[in-house]
Amino acid sequence: MIAVASDHGGLELKNAILAFLRDQQIDCADLGTDGTASVDYPDYAEKVARAVTAGVAQAGILICGTGIGMSIAANKIPGIRAALVHDEFTAQMAAEHNDANILVMGGRVLAAEQAVRLVDVWLTSRYEGGRHQQRLDKIAALE
Ligand code: RB5
Repeated sequence: MIAVASDHGGLELKNAILAFLRDQQIDCADLGTDGTASVDYPDYAEKVARAVTAGVAQAGILICGTGIGMSIAANKIPGIRAALVHDEFTAQMAAEHNDANILVMGGRVLAAEQAVRLVDVWLTSRYEGGRHQQRLDKIAALE
């Protein structure tokens, strides 16, 4: 299952991403927010990050206005590797090099169709392991 959440700044992209995942018959859960009212992005970053570290979700997707706040907040949770991506290259690298377990995007940065494309690239790219694993191990040691 992929856990998806946004704040008010990412609502439109969240809805587009959920529609894409459902269309692809990829199991997903909408963890909010549900409307355009202003909310605090750390609350949603925590929901998705905890779902991932608990194993309830295999991966997560977070969207706020820029993606910056969501990535800062999610990366506070041990075991989370949240990657803020802007284009196909960074979405691919987030999977292949960083084994990112949460993808983060900016709702005021990307068009919905581009965000959906980045989700597709991330989901269809595979972690390469090898020399990257020792780097992930060093990140884990920082925790
Ligand atoms: C909310 O206005 C905005 O600060 C938030 O969506 C995000 O961009 C924070 O990093």
